[in-house]
Amino acid sequence: NTRTILTLSGSLRKQSSNSLFLHGLAALAPGNFTFINYAGLDTLPHFNPDLDGDDAIPSAAVADLRAKLKHADAVVICTPEYANGVPGVLKNALDWIVSSGELMNKPVAAISASPNPLGGDKALASLLLTLTIMSAVIVDSATMSVPFIRSKLSTEGMIIDLQTAEACRLLLQTLEQAIHTKET
Ligand code: FNR
Repeated sequence: NTRTILTLSGSLRKQSSNSLFLHGLAALAPGNFTFINYAGLDTLPHFNPDLDGDDAIPSAAVADLRAKLKHADAVVICTPEYANGVPGVLKNALDWIVSSGELMNKPVAAISASPNPLGGDKALASLLLTLTIMSAVIVDSATMSVPFIRSKLSTEGMIIDLQTAEACRLLLQTLEQAIHTKET
């Protein structure tokens, strides 16, 4: 069965290692996986509950994010850590999904990547708290923090560290199982 995976990088940077890591992850996936990258974090308005109600004028950018999440069989988020937390642009996007619920019962893989030795583990922990309250399906082996990210990616975005590549394959298998479980 075809699997549509929406990827979302928490970094807006052109040379983002997190965006590149998602590219590397996609290259390791089986042939039935199709990846769609969501790159619209900077098009979203600042979350404001006044703009989110039934009477509010819908934002096209928010509608697009929600539609892409709804369409996906699973979501992979890869994020940097900023000052021990999740980048504001990523949290902003997630706040838009709280009321509409597109992540409810959706298999989600959560990754943090950092050049430092802890791999952005605090951002990952914080992201997992948010995803949990949003009732996303989070499977243990589909979450990981990746330390020393710069040594693990080639300039073309291939994951060149064997252990990390293996962890990515396991992550993809876990997502496949979670999607399958939802179907049955
Ligand atoms: C960082 N960085 C960082 N790294 C980390 O592991 N823990 C942290 O708390 C922070 N804090 C932080 C704040 C700000 C404002 C910046 C700009 C950076 C370093 C960060 O991990 C590094 O820049 C990554 O390369 C960012 O990911 P992308 O953009 O390469 O995907």
